[in-house]
Amino acid sequence: MLPLRQVLRAAPRLSGPASTQRGLATLSEEHRMLQKTCRDFADSVLAPAAARIDKAHEFPAAAVTQMGELGLMGIDAPEEYGGAGLDTMSYAVAMEELSRGCAATGTIMSAHNSLYLGPLKYHATPEQLKQWMQPFTDGKLVGCFGLSEPGNGSDAGAASTTATLKGDRWVLNGTKAWITNSWESSAAIVFATTDKAKKHRGISAFIVPMPTQGFSLGKKEDKLGIRATSTANLIFEDCEIPKENLLGKEGDGFKIAMRTLDNGRIGIAGQGVGIAQAAIDCAIDYASKRTAFGSPILKMQTIQSKLADMELRTESARLLMYKAAMLKDEGKNFTKMAAMSKLAASEAATFCAHQCIQILGGMGYVSDMPAERLYRDARITEIYEGTSEIQKLVITGNMIKEYGL
Ligand code: CAA
Repeated sequence: MLPLRQVLRAAPRLSGPASTQRGLATLSEEHRMLQKTCRDFADSVLAPAAARIDKAHEFPAAAVTQMGELGLMGIDAPEEYGGAGLDTMSYAVAMEELSRGCAATGTIMSAHNSLYLGPLKYHATPEQLKQWMQPFTDGKLVGCFGLSEPGNGSDAGAASTTATLKGDRWVLNGTKAWITNSWESSAAIVFATTDKAKKHRGISAFIVPMPTQGFSLGKKEDKLGIRATSTANLIFEDCEIPKENLLGKEGDGFKIAMRTLDNGRIGIAGQGVGIAQAAIDCAIDYASKRTAFGSPILKMQTIQSKLADMELRTESARLLMYKAAMLKDEGKNFTKMAAMSKLAASEAATFCAHQCIQILGGMGYVSDMPAERLYRDARITEIYEGTSEIQKLVITGNMIKEYGL
């Protein structure tokens, strides 16, 4: 398979402004070519291994290396620093296709791209980009993001991990919880407070090499879904890092985290749409082969009604995701749309996986078929990078601003 940059160079060039090229109902020729490359990779490499790595809780190291060769592990990172230099629409499309094949691999890709490389892309100095982005764009090194803590998840501004400047070193103390990719990572973006009295305005972001003395990992969590990914606590006990590993300005950490999550939510929307699409594919395939009362169950009105509901929710979420990506690529405010797309996609994923099991009946409840895995994997999309309840807060918060209230 060709790296994405080469695939896109082969695509016919389009003329006209970006928004009319893309429209909202269809993808550009370039994005369709990228979609096909990612779909072929997901069908040939990810989907055949998805059940096995889920059962074994096995990080798909070889697949991640191949993703790096394709350009997927630095998809929207600047070319100057080794990335593929593609846009957010490409990222969203790739996330859907990969997650359709294996949602856990989608998680690894999104945590690395959105949560590790993302804050570096927008806030790192050229020196930091050279050191902490460039070696992380080819699939050989992976990064993670430490925001949540055992005592605060949704209330991200209440961070109790501290960072104290001692001479030319920051000293970190505290624990970050539920961190994706933690066991495989070679660096983490970590949020810690440098001035508790300032509340969220006292939070700063740091680049922490892994391993570092005074920094250890908790046990690998035994999770309901996305079991091929590692999730663990990051524990800091007088962990010293160089002064120059501060990312952005002191006190800017909360805003860096919020902007990072805005971007990340588009990726999770892609994951939700991918899981929903996988559930539709599985249900259609089964319903076309399974007979009951003398004909394939696909002909039954009850089955058709479920499939229509699944398609409606999935396509609606996909269009919201395209719109969020388009707004971001056009430099417009996309916070509300990113939250809406994540919310709609996670609901579509959960709904479609549930209906898929119902259509498959007993076969949906056993692990011989992907339905039960999709059902388990879908659940996390309603929790991480902001729960569905938080997405609603973000949506209404932005609506209130739009109404000038
Ligand atoms: N972009 C930039 N700045 C933003 C912003 C955004 N999207 N949203 C808020 N801000 C700014 C505000 O303008 C405000 O700035 P000032 O200090 O200048 O006034 C400041 O941030 C505080 O804003 P709020 O008062 O709105 O903040 P809040 O404390 O009420 O919290 C929240 C808002 C939306 C609930 C936020 O806390 C949030 O998103 N929580 C969810 C956290 C989350 O998603 N966690 C997931 C963890 S990551 C993960 O899952 C990792 C993994 O490995 C899987």
